[in-house]
Order: sequence, then C-alpha cells, then structure tokens
Amino acid sequence: MPISQAEKIWMDGDLVDWQDATIHVLSHAVHYGSGVFEGIRAYETSRGPAVWHLDEHLKRLYRSAKLYHLDIPFSREALTQATADVILANELRACYIRPLVLRGYGEMGVNPLDAPVNVVIAVWPWGAYLGEEALEQGVRIKISSWRRNPQNSLPAAAKATGQYINSVLAKVESLKAGYDEAIMLNEAGMVTDGSGENVFIVRDGVLTTPPIAAGCLDGITRASVIRIARDLGYEVREENLVRTDLYNADECFFTGTAAEITPIREVDDRAVGEGHRGPVTKELQGAFFAATKGDDERYLAWLTFVRDA
Ligand SMILES: Cc1ncc(COP(=O)(O)O)c(C=O)c1O
Repeated sequence: MPISQAEKIWMDGDLVDWQDATIHVLSHAVHYGSGVFEGIRAYETSRGPAVWHLDEHLKRLYRSAKLYHLDIPFSREALTQATADVILANELRACYIRPLVLRGYGEMGVNPLDAPVNVVIAVWPWGAYLGEEALEQGVRIKISSWRRNPQNSLPAAAKATGQYINSVLAKVESLKAGYDEAIMLNEAGMVTDGSGENVFIVRDGVLTTPPIAAGCLDGITRASVIRIARDLGYEVREENLVRTDLYNADECFFTGTAAEITPIREVDDRAVGEGHRGPVTKELQGAFFAATKGDDERYLAWLTFVRDA
C-alpha cells in the first residue's frame, strides 16, 4: 500500500521534515532486523483525532524492546506526548501511526548492545488495509505453506522488525497464488494468525479465536473485539483451531489495527458460510467503529484525544 506523505516525523525528540527522517544504510536494524515497532490508528471523532488504545500499544512497544534488551531512551509519557504532537503538527484528522525503535549506526556484527538507538514516530493518512470493499465483501485467504515462527525461535510476544520476514513469506505466497492474505499454522498444525491480523470464527453463534499460546500476536484489536462481543452477549472462546474449523465456520474474520474487522469470505477456495460477510461480523463491525469514533460511552477510555494529551 503506498505511503501518503505527511509533513513532519517525530525523530529522537524533534519534529523533522518528512524527507529528513533518515538513517544510515549501515544501521544495525537494516542488516539484522533489530528494531521493534507498533502499528496504531487515530480516528476522527467529534472531539478531534483520537488514538485508539495508545497506552496498550506503547506498553507493547516497551515489552517488545525489553525482550530484545533494547532500552528506549524516552519514557512512555514522552512518547504519548510525541504521538499527539506529530498528529497535530501534520493536521491530520485520522491517520495510521508507526512508532519504530531501531538499533542505529555505529557498530557492525550481530551484537546489538553497543549500537545507538533511534526512535521514530511517523503518521500518515491510511485507508482500509485490505481495501475499502473488503470491509463489506470480505477477503479470500490461503493457509500458508510457511509455518509461523516457533515461539522459542522468534517469540510472538515481540513485534520486532526482523520477525516480519516470516509474515512477508506468507503474504507474498498468498498474493502470487491470487489470494488477498495468508493464515499461518504453527508447528503443531494449529491456526495462529494472518501476516498482520488475528483471526476469529463464528459457529452456531459462538466466537472462537486461537489462544496467544498458539503463537499469534497478542492483538489489541483482538482483545477489544473479545470485550465488545461479550458485551453484546456472545460467548467467546480462546481455543486452538485447525484449518478445517475455518472451512466449516459460519463466519470468519480478521482483526487488527490495519485490517480493523475484515470478513473472510473464502479459505483455500472454500466459501465460508454464505460466502460473504455474515451478520455477527457486521454487528461487531458496527459496534467497533462506533467505539473508535467515540460514540459508545463504554469504550471512551480506549481513546486518547490528542488535543487533550
Ligand atoms: C502478526 C500479527 N498478528 C496480529 C496483529 C493484530 O494486532 P493488533 O490488533 O494489535 O494490531 C498484527 C498487527 O500488529 C500482526 O502483525
């Protein structure tokens, strides 16, 4: 998806012009994937732009950094303020937000510990990740021939840049085979997640999503959807799924910051349910987007209104 350029990027404490937010080609992260990052969205509300679950995303960023012994040289409060500042500086009403902490220039070799650390927060306008029509029509997916990183090789608990090479393999395989997205299984053959989304099925009115221990990312949208679904009266289970559970589901959908709630209409050339967005998915989308706009009092605490930050 092309990046639509904004004006300013927050980098190491300052707002710099978009084209000046650069690093050296010999930076450690470029060679060894030694960065950690987040993907966040800010939504337009009647009180101006509001960041969805900013605290949770920043907490996950610090957890990812801890796993890789990466000390972020800014407090969480400072990055909260920086996020608000960069959105306001770019005069964006809604946007995608990409915080990135990377091992910078100065050392070569696998040992990252002496490399300097750069911190970046970029924002830009971004529409629906899998296409606007996908939110209604749903996407076609393939079970990838690539397995998800085993937990003791590259832990799903961290969102590290280098780990996404695994997702890249799965995503490209699915696109080249004519699908929109991939789902990866773990070494035991259980469903984990998409290349950048968690997955849910609906069967007989009950929602099921794989447990985090299956090897999927502990998605913030996943947690929000579990809560919203329970508030709507649905039973939600976190249980292992095999690929045929996806084929035989009444409904299936992705959740993620980028994908929001995207219906899955086909898995491995088998229509899911009626082969289009189902009623539960539609109801959840309605409740989710109301919450992101600040229209549901119950979930207001999930929004950080940037003008008040
Ligand atoms: C592999 C993977 N799974 C799931 C998700 C969804 O997580 P979240 O809802 O926190 O964006 C993402 C996105 O960050 C991801 O990269």
